[in-house]
Amino acid sequence: IKEEALSKIHDCSSLKELNDLRVFYLGKKGPMQSAMKSMKDMSKEERASFGQVSNKVKQEITQAIEEKKKILEEAEMMAKIQNEKIDISLPGSHLPLGTIHPLTMIREELEDLFIGMGYSVAEGPEVETDHFNFELMNLPKDHPARDMQDTFYIDENTLLRTHTSPVQAHVMLAANGKGPIKVICPGKTYRRDDDDATHSHQFSQCEGLVIDKNITMADLKGTLELFAKKMFGEKREIRLRPSYFPFTEPSVEVDISCYNCNGKGCSMCKQTGWIEILGAGMVNPKVLEMCGFDSQVYQGFAFGIGLERVAMLKYGIDNIRDFYSGDLRFLNQFVRKD
Ligand code: PHE
Repeated sequence: IKEEALSKIHDCSSLKELNDLRVFYLGKKGPMQSAMKSMKDMSKEERASFGQVSNKVKQEITQAIEEKKKILEEAEMMAKIQNEKIDISLPGSHLPLGTIHPLTMIREELEDLFIGMGYSVAEGPEVETDHFNFELMNLPKDHPARDMQDTFYIDENTLLRTHTSPVQAHVMLAANGKGPIKVICPGKTYRRDDDDATHSHQFSQCEGLVIDKNITMADLKGTLELFAKKMFGEKREIRLRPSYFPFTEPSVEVDISCYNCNGKGCSMCKQTGWIEILGAGMVNPKVLEMCGFDSQVYQGFAFGIGLERVAMLKYGIDNIRDFYSGDLRFLNQFVRKD
């Protein structure tokens, strides 16, 4: 019995099989038990030595089972570790990443550029008062230039801001007449335009405002030239044309030399070699005074950049509605390179 049991235990290859062997050899219905039964027919001496032998056999079988159990458990653990091993050289599964919206890209690029020149970034409310959007920008109620900005009114005194210029007024008033100020104010703006390929009732601007002593038109020009070169390439030149805005005096319309034909003339610049890019000017002394600055001491310049316009030129987008449609075929093209 012992030989047979030990060899079976030795050959057994699973914990379940081992348990079956234990139940069989050491259990009540096993060969050991039936051998014990024959003890009752034995003499006293025979019984004693048989008992000893059978106890020893039991012990040996039990020990063999314990030892085998350890081996099998260890093997099982090793197999489990093998199975659960992570192959760190396997290629990762591809998690699709979202892309940055082209308008956000332009906005962040502008922020980086101007922060690099010592500006800070300010924001203001999109729901504005007539006072901030118009009055403080030198556009009193009956001013004909209000027609330039078709307005969404919420009530008589409240509106959706038509430009980011009212943020200028917030920043200036908060400064309590003390310069210098150097801010850009990016954000959403609204006008009652009929939407088409180049107009949208909601669009985005980035205002720029600098106020200090001895600020001249040359500072404005130098700043805008740097902006043009950083945004559209080192070869760009800028051109200032006289224009009119109630909040700046003098006012200019700013063109950049066409990056498509390098100023020679093509369909993109309508054969002129120049592309109109933004409006700017020297802060009107009336605006300075209304916003708490002494215009005898302080001067300033301001500019307003249309983010959609910059993005459309830079990325060759021909329909402004693409920015707002949420079409992934459009959006997925804008993967940031840095
Ligand atoms: N606020 C003007 C507009 O929306 C742009 C502008 C800003 C012009 C600052 C000059 C100075 O048309």
